[in-house]
Amino acid sequence: MPVISVPEAFNEEDLYIDLESMFGRRLFLKCEGFNFAGSIKLKAATEMVESAERRGVLTRNSILVESSSGNLGVALSMIAASKGYRFVCVTDSRCNLATRQMMEALGSQVHVIAHEHAAGGGLLGARLEYVRSLCAADDRYVWLSQYTNPENWKAHYRRTAPAIARFFPKLDVLFIGVGTTGTLMGCARWFRSWHRPVRIVAVDSVGSAIFGDPPGRRMIPGLGMSVRPPLLDESYVDEAVHVEETDTIRTCRQLAKRGFLFGGSTGTVVSGAMSWLDRHDSRGLTTVAIAPDLGERYLDTIYQTNWVQALYGADFLAQEAPAAPGTTAREPSTVHGRPS
Ligand SMILES: Cc1ncc(COP(=O)(O)O)c(C=O)c1O
Repeated sequence: MPVISVPEAFNEEDLYIDLESMFGRRLFLKCEGFNFAGSIKLKAATEMVESAERRGVLTRNSILVESSSGNLGVALSMIAASKGYRFVCVTDSRCNLATRQMMEALGSQVHVIAHEHAAGGGLLGARLEYVRSLCAADDRYVWLSQYTNPENWKAHYRRTAPAIARFFPKLDVLFIGVGTTGTLMGCARWFRSWHRPVRIVAVDSVGSAIFGDPPGRRMIPGLGMSVRPPLLDESYVDEAVHVEETDTIRTCRQLAKRGFLFGGSTGTVVSGAMSWLDRHDSRGLTTVAIAPDLGERYLDTIYQTNWVQALYGADFLAQEAPAAPGTTAREPSTVHGRPS
């Protein structure tokens, strides 16, 4: 029985769901939402803050500032409250209401950017410009910069990948959703020097520019970026699979029908993984996907009928396949292959 005195001390690292009975393919889903920050970002946030403390960058007078579409903001809010720092989260209009309210409940100040950057770079460009302007105006601000901070990927190198390897000594394929690419790069680097080859499949949203496609409309926060992430080194990635947001929503709702309420990234990763498994001879393969968070933060988006119909059409939900036990209908996702 774990007994803790600070919230960041608890994280469930060893919980997996076997999705075979739901989707007809053998895939183990690593659940990262069971901690007080509610997401995998707890690990990146903890490592970035502790590294800044060790280096003397973060002191009692500092004000933490970060650009986040939500989960890192919640994790930093929790750690800032726990350690007694002030924290300003710069987010944008796609941030879920519950996520914003959670950050405020934890004592953080939330600044919401509503307009894209005039010179390009989308909402993210505007968020980063605002963070830079705060740092230029007052040297008490400390920007951890999840997009460039190596402690982001090192968190997953030190914790996430070894935890998966402990449970799955014969792992063949690992599916990882991408935002900053911290999770991807940490796991990919760790498995590169493991005792057996692991195929690393990145799962991204259609409309994300991470792997060089032109940016397009994306409404579900958490996954994807409108620019190429500085942490990404594609030489560690075997394949990138792109998933339509409609498939993300269908998969989330399919999981919910079986009692598993997950966030949009999980719907994306599971949808991308299942379409990959459909296209490959996956018999006998051990495959794992990472679920970064749970579904409560998406009640006013993915799980809200009006929101879904306003964005994807009035008929979209009516076309949802009935939850047939065993399998789900899937359209093939786009795949950017890399020779194995
Ligand atoms: C909801 C969600 N999706 C995806 C990811 C993967 O993000 P990253 O590439 O920044 O590690 C995260 C990371 O924590 C997340 O919270």
